Amino acid sequence: MKVSIIGAGYVGVVLAAGLAELGHEITLVDIDNKKVEMINNKEAPIYEKGLQELLEKHVPTQIKATTDLKTAISNTELTFVCVGTPSRKEGLIHLEQVKGACLEIAITLLRKQAKHYMVLKSTVLPGTSEECIKIIEDVSRKKFPKDFSFAMNPEFLREGNAVHDFFNQDRIVIGSSDAEIVEKLKELYQDIKAPVLETNFKEAEMIKYTNNAFLATKISFINEIGNICKKLGIDTNVVAKGIGMDWRIGPHFLRSGIGFGGSCFPKDVSALIFRATETGYSPKILRAVFEVNEAQPKKVIELLDKKHNSLAGKNIAILGLAFKADTDDVRESPALQIIKELILEQANLHVYDPVAEEPVKKLFPTLNYAESAQEAIDNAEIVLLLTEWQEFTQLNYGDKLVIDGKNIFDSERVHLRPKNYEGVCW
Ligand code: UGA
Repeated sequence: MKVSIIGAGYVGVVLAAGLAELGHEITLVDIDNKKVEMINNKEAPIYEKGLQELLEKHVPTQIKATTDLKTAISNTELTFVCVGTPSRKEGLIHLEQVKGACLEIAITLLRKQAKHYMVLKSTVLPGTSEECIKIIEDVSRKKFPKDFSFAMNPEFLREGNAVHDFFNQDRIVIGSSDAEIVEKLKELYQDIKAPVLETNFKEAEMIKYTNNAFLATKISFINEIGNICKKLGIDTNVVAKGIGMDWRIGPHFLRSGIGFGGSCFPKDVSALIFRATETGYSPKILRAVFEVNEAQPKKVIELLDKKHNSLAGKNIAILGLAFKADTDDVRESPALQIIKELILEQANLHVYDPVAEEPVKKLFPTLNYAESAQEAIDNAEIVLLLTEWQEFTQLNYGDKLVIDGKNIFDSERVHLRPKNYEGVCW
């Protein structure tokens, strides 16, 4: 199938690579010239396992990148919208990019005779798909579903594992009131072995938020239990293992630590709180999820303060900046909050991350950026582990105090723990 994808962020690029591997012909559109050039030069614009290989295989035969949105829409049958929906602190999400894409599609449809299929993948609050349809109808003077079709098809890809997740989906959610686009999408994804759940627009939009909110709730729940366990001298990991063996609970997303970060959980939980509040309902659990998460990075500082009267002038190694391993994304990373607190306490920071240093250098240009994790350790008296990079289990920590915020030395690696080791919740 000939498919255009608007937005070459991690969702759009991974979708392009995945669909090309399934045999489809992809035009990837972005306003950023540099990104477009990189993709056409077979270079992955983000660090994502397996992506580079797929781009090398499918550019330019099955994937072409361009800034020319109108031509891309005209020459394809189906368009995915994968643009960003950035949010403000209070939870309001910005739909300018989504609405802008709808407008461009609508303008192109003024001249296109054949029926066009549009699929929204960006995370949007319930009601947005219907708003998009209205924009397209008003501008293109065409009617849904007779002249163009529309579906909401949320993504559940994890950064760092997005390529793997694309080919191994638990389910494919397709929200639409038009059976024709549902069939189109089933055909597009036919080689992915996953059950298809057909819903209406709002249900599909809400499934995405509820999925992320539930996972975030699991993490804040185990972090709250972890905070209690720490006070009682109990290892939370053993408790998590024990409850995870109950099939009704399951073992995943029960890793306690410094809290969740990234571009999704914090933004989606706050957007849901914001939307619920607008309707007159005050969500109690979601607020608590957020509150526990905001406080969790401070547990590291509390542990440090307990051991040292003052951190002023202390040499502290920060190992890990990304919000989780296998990504160079530092958005909402708990490591950044911890760095800010330590700067306020006038500590001397030696920072290292294998791939995520560049964006942090822009935020904190005066920190000491080490060439290697070992160099950061050697220059410090205290080490903080803030991203679960595998390589951090293989270092020589000597007898320096090591505070693990990410459970790097978990059950199978307990024997590798440094001599002077302390976990945030264990
Ligand atoms: C999340 C969801 O897992 C994806 O299904 C979803 O598609 C994506 O958001 C999105 O909405 O686009 P992602 O943010 O990439 O994916 O990362 P996760 O692997 O879910 O981790 C999120 C945060 O939770 C990380 O900071 C991670 O370290 C933390 N986490 C995760 C824990 O603290 N404990 C755990 O047990 C698991």
